[in-house]
Amino acid sequence: MRIKKAIIPAAGLGTRVLPATKAMPKEMLPIVDKPAIQYIVEEAVKSGIEDILIIISRGKSIVEDHFDRSPELEAKLAAGGESKKEFLDQVVSISKLANITYIRQQEQKGLGHAVLQAKKYVGNEPFAVMYGDDVIIGEDPCIGQLCRAYDEYGKGVVGIKEVSKEAIQKYSSMKVESLRDNLFSISDMIEKPTPDKIFSLYSILGRCVLPPQIFDILENTPLGAGNELQLTDAMKVLAQTDGMVGVDFTGTRYDMGNKLGILKASVEVGLQNQDFGPEFRDYLKDIVSKF
Ligand code: UTP
Repeated sequence: MRIKKAIIPAAGLGTRVLPATKAMPKEMLPIVDKPAIQYIVEEAVKSGIEDILIIISRGKSIVEDHFDRSPELEAKLAAGGESKKEFLDQVVSISKLANITYIRQQEQKGLGHAVLQAKKYVGNEPFAVMYGDDVIIGEDPCIGQLCRAYDEYGKGVVGIKEVSKEAIQKYSSMKVESLRDNLFSISDMIEKPTPDKIFSLYSILGRCVLPPQIFDILENTPLGAGNELQLTDAMKVLAQTDGMVGVDFTGTRYDMGNKLGILKASVEVGLQNQDFGPEFRDYLKDIVSKF
């Protein structure tokens, strides 16, 4: 079944990026010239998904503004003639990227709780989840790779990557068996494992495709790590019963939920910029030698 809807949970408090995130959602922090969440919406669209639900919260209506029309700005740019045409086209195209709907998560009770807010919107069909602070850049859009695996196996799919022993304790750990190439079957998982509970160094990073049954499971899942409703705890039930599929996806993932991740994203994307990439590279080489 073709995946037609994606949800982007972007309602978290972003405490690891304070004070930047006191008034500014981390999902709106720019990587060079685009907010993180725009990269994510573009990834969905490139994968053939045009119906998107963004889960926001109080103080995050700036996300809605970004994807809306902007009549005053557009009029000003239009009056600027040829020299402003490129900007005008960019600004208008953002508002036409996809059919975006918004819903508010009133209390920040975790990623699982955020996903649960999408129950009515999703209905009875499989859907994609794209974590609002995980930007993944690559030739083959990440969520498209997961949708293809869902088509092939008809089971819930998670995007996975191997991470370090230190990192896995902050993320999740998957019990995996190889299917072929970069595909794995997943029969169990654990959120934020202590060292003795680690299944493997494969962790879920930012993307999944889930069957609608996940909503019933979420409604019956007790609060987990951090006293939050953890999506991983619900997916664990799915993995243990129906099994899930893991895709060791191609593409580079930038964690916009922490300060170092944000810096790495800007540097790497900046280095690839056609206009100033080479100049930025020279600048970095020079500055690094001075510290
Ligand atoms: P995180 O757990 O990384 O986000 O969730 P957070 O809670 O904002 O982070 P810290 O620990 O306080 O820094 C991953 C994604 O899920 C969303 C976040 O906005 C982020 O994009 N999320 C998280 C929600 O939508 N609602 C929540 O209650 C929690």
